[in-house]
Amino acid sequence: MKTILHLRCSPRGAAAFSSLMAEEVIARLQQHHPTARLVFRDLAADPPPLVDAAFSAAILGPPGEVPPALEVSEALIRELEAADILVIATPMHNYGVPAVLKAWVDQIVRIHRSFASTPGGKVGKLHDRPAWLVVASGGWFTGPSPTGAPAQPDFLTPYVQAVLSTIGIHDLHILTLEGVTRGADIAEAAFARARAALERALSPGVGISVN
Ligand SMILES: Cc1cc2nc3c(=O)[nH]c(=O)nc-3n(C[C@H](O)[C@H](O)[C@H](O)COP(=O)(O)O)c2cc1C
Repeated sequence: MKTILHLRCSPRGAAAFSSLMAEEVIARLQQHHPTARLVFRDLAADPPPLVDAAFSAAILGPPGEVPPALEVSEALIRELEAADILVIATPMHNYGVPAVLKAWVDQIVRIHRSFASTPGGKVGKLHDRPAWLVVASGGWFTGPSPTGAPAQPDFLTPYVQAVLSTIGIHDLHILTLEGVTRGADIAEAAFARARAALERALSPGVGISVN
């Protein structure tokens, strides 16, 4: 049986644009995997702890031991390891990930545990799996706005790609919902584009392996 791990990051809960699109992604994945188990984690409602001094010291301790300061990290990594498919739904906040998603990243990207540091660089210790990143933003960052304003900086999608890749997850599919706060028509068009990209990615022989 497959397990889908769904991380929601918006403070706006189920009504958030990113949350709504993620529900569609999950519904389509469940068509491919009707018996899939869904594990849902709302990072905004229940944020992971921020890195503190005890955590910073503990990650440098001997591999294999899980001191109290790393218990949340260990639980979150195990939850991720157990997932066959990862779905992250997030708003863009100030060109990057919201703080709750950064807090999750700091818990799960852990030296000796989810990645190894080698002379050749960092090597991920998790097996690869499909991951979906649904990003909602008030403006445009993949290109200029419809009125010609230049694309905003995007530190979100390259960042998530880099951190997942660091731990071994490379099979990342990104769906963007841009300009969604600029009116219902723009939002609906953004959803239509994201749905089309989802269908393309799920097409047989194209992109993602959903088996
Ligand atoms: C603190 C904050 C920062 C934001 N920063 C950006 C930004 O840098 N670029 C952008 O396009 N939209 C920005 N927005 C707008 C959100 O991305 C937009 O409201 C989006 O719909 C949020 O997604 P959600 O509906 O899934 O929560 C920001 C919103 C908030 C609350």
